[in-house]
Amino acid sequence: MTGLAGNSVVVTGAGSGIGRATALRFAGEGARVVVADLNAEGAAAVVSEIEAAGGTAVAVTGDLSEPAVVDKVVATAVDTFGGLDVLVNNAGIMDRMTAPADVSDAEWERVIRVNLTAPFQLTRAALPHMLAKGKGAIVNTASEAGLRGSASGTAYTVSKHGIVGLTKSIATMYRNAGIRANAIAPGGTRTGMVPDVDPESHGPAVLAAYMGNVGRVADADEQAAAIVFLASDAASNINGVILPVDNGWSAV
Ligand code: NAI
Repeated sequence: MTGLAGNSVVVTGAGSGIGRATALRFAGEGARVVVADLNAEGAAAVVSEIEAAGGTAVAVTGDLSEPAVVDKVVATAVDTFGGLDVLVNNAGIMDRMTAPADVSDAEWERVIRVNLTAPFQLTRAALPHMLAKGKGAIVNTASEAGLRGSASGTAYTVSKHGIVGLTKSIATMYRNAGIRANAIAPGGTRTGMVPDVDPESHGPAVLAAYMGNVGRVADADEQAAAIVFLASDAASNINGVILPVDNGWSAV
């Protein structure tokens, strides 16, 4: 039993890739899903897919780097589905595989804002609803780049190490309040995320090293399965774990 039937679930970045596969899996478990994404077309398509299969979902479109959009996502879950049981902070963007000496302020700020600040703000907005119920699960999408320094550029690596810290902080602060927080650390996964590599920078060399290490590229659904497991009652005593889903890359 997953215990997810009837749950109100927010999945960010659910218009594509890992988020889309995750939203479909939650809906398949009978959960009601807020499909949050910058891409209105992608989000609408996922809602249609869920509804066509007999599930329940609603789209919220907007840029999660804007606090008003963060508030709207949580308010939609609470107003439409009567609460918020599961938050999946999954939306993210790559950097340009840039080394520390070459990262612009604009690249740094955008990546940290989308990949780290937005998940923190969503968590802060979601927690009061979970604490009121005495139960809640947060699952974050970290990355191989949250475990090591060589899996992406500087800004992305820092943002994903930050997600690891955020996950552990939530887990320890609320471990006696019924809230669990875990993360997956995906290795290379077939999605819409294409590294925007600047040929003038260190990018290609870093990317080549990255691709050489990835090994087998996963399907998005292999990541989604781990996210849904961590959110489910089957993982009721798992808290503060960063689970690599990488075919052993992190074990090398
Ligand atoms: P994707 O590009 O297919 O999906 C990401 C989704 O997030 C897109 O639909 C995009 O519109 C949305 N998004 C981006 N910025 C947003 C914003 N500011 N506000 C709202 N929505 C926004 O890529 P993928 O791979 O499914 O990415 C999901 C997560 O997986 C990301 O956090 C990424 O860092 C992580 N990841 C992916 C890996 C891969 O190899 N694909 C490896 C490790 C981690």
